[in-house]
Amino acid sequence: MAIEIIGTGKAVPSNRVTNDDLAARIDTSDEWIRSHTGIGSRHLADESTATSDLALEAAKNALAMVAGFTENAESGTEKRDRAAVEAAKSIDFIVVGTATPDFIGCPSTACIVQHKLGANRAAAMDITAGCTGFIYALETAAGLLNLGRGRKRALVIGAEILSRVTDWTDRGTCVLFGDGAGAVVIEKTDAPCEGPGRRGLVQTLLYADGSGGESLVFRRGGSRNPFKTGEVIEKGIYLEMNGQEVYNFAVKAVADTAIALMQTAGIGADDIAWIVPHQANARIVQAAGKRLKIPAEKFYLNIEEYANTSAATIPLALDELNRNGKIKKGDIIMTIGFGGGLTYGGNIIVW
Ligand code: UT7
Repeated sequence: MAIEIIGTGKAVPSNRVTNDDLAARIDTSDEWIRSHTGIGSRHLADESTATSDLALEAAKNALAMVAGFTENAESGTEKRDRAAVEAAKSIDFIVVGTATPDFIGCPSTACIVQHKLGANRAAAMDITAGCTGFIYALETAAGLLNLGRGRKRALVIGAEILSRVTDWTDRGTCVLFGDGAGAVVIEKTDAPCEGPGRRGLVQTLLYADGSGGESLVFRRGGSRNPFKTGEVIEKGIYLEMNGQEVYNFAVKAVADTAIALMQTAGIGADDIAWIVPHQANARIVQAAGKRLKIPAEKFYLNIEEYANTSAATIPLALDELNRNGKIKKGDIIMTIGFGGGLTYGGNIIVW
């Protein structure tokens, strides 16, 4: 029995903010941002949009693909929605990886999506694993399907509105992040998951190193440092990051995960069609590629357009590869995530 990806979708806000737009507001420049990160623009949600709204759009695109509707939403939202809602009835689990849920604690973003899709038989939950959120969510959903009990399909989403937790006066972080969502529908099929002709998710590795938790942290609002009634909040409400520490961790995490995935799946770099890494900084990917001696062209990067969209980055990239015809059946894809927690991990997927 294999767990195969049978549909992909994405959603990005239409508001595209370039480096020059930011440079008009804070002390930065297109040259600095591009040379230090590879980022050229980011898409930012308007005030009325929450993470579940982007998650829902990406989910509808992925579900509509399952129902045979592959056009972009713009070419027929109503038709797309009908196809998506029909396919949603077949979903057993919805798992959303996000660091920026609509609400702290509950309801989960996944439950909001479940309700709006009318996916009445689906159980729904969020996963908190920072930018590795999609990799963790995918393995959780696959594990649930592998328990059997007649369950066959899951919707797995990575979605973020990072612009809402970003300090727009801090040039050290605000230039890095963007908003977006990506989704996949996975199905348990009769194809083999190992040996000749293996398909789908053939390997997943998940890791955590909680000792580095303070280097990417939302310091306020949780049970450790709750907001207090009447308090005037002056600092600590935004995502704090120790950029250098995370950078060093990330280069090692990408390289170590890639080696471990290739070893455990019994493949070499030449067997892989695409490596889809989390994209926090193009320099992290380039440094890891150098360590691995894998050519840069193997890595699929869209950070220039979207910046770092945390848990959304990998499914968003998978949808672009899929819809743009850049992957064909049987291709081997490696995903690698890293981020808050600290967490990291990846998958080998035979498309
Ligand atoms: O997905 C979450 C995981 N996050 C990451 O993986 C991020 C990992 N870290 C990084 O990608 C990098 O550490 C950053 C991109 C955040 C920072 O790059 P850096 O090359 O480490 O820069 P830096 O923080 O050492 O700063 C170098 C200089 C400083 O100026 P001085 O002190 O040398 O005069 C900063 O003030 O660059 C300055 N600087 C900027 N200048 C213009 C920092 N941010 C900016 C900016 N524009 N936006």
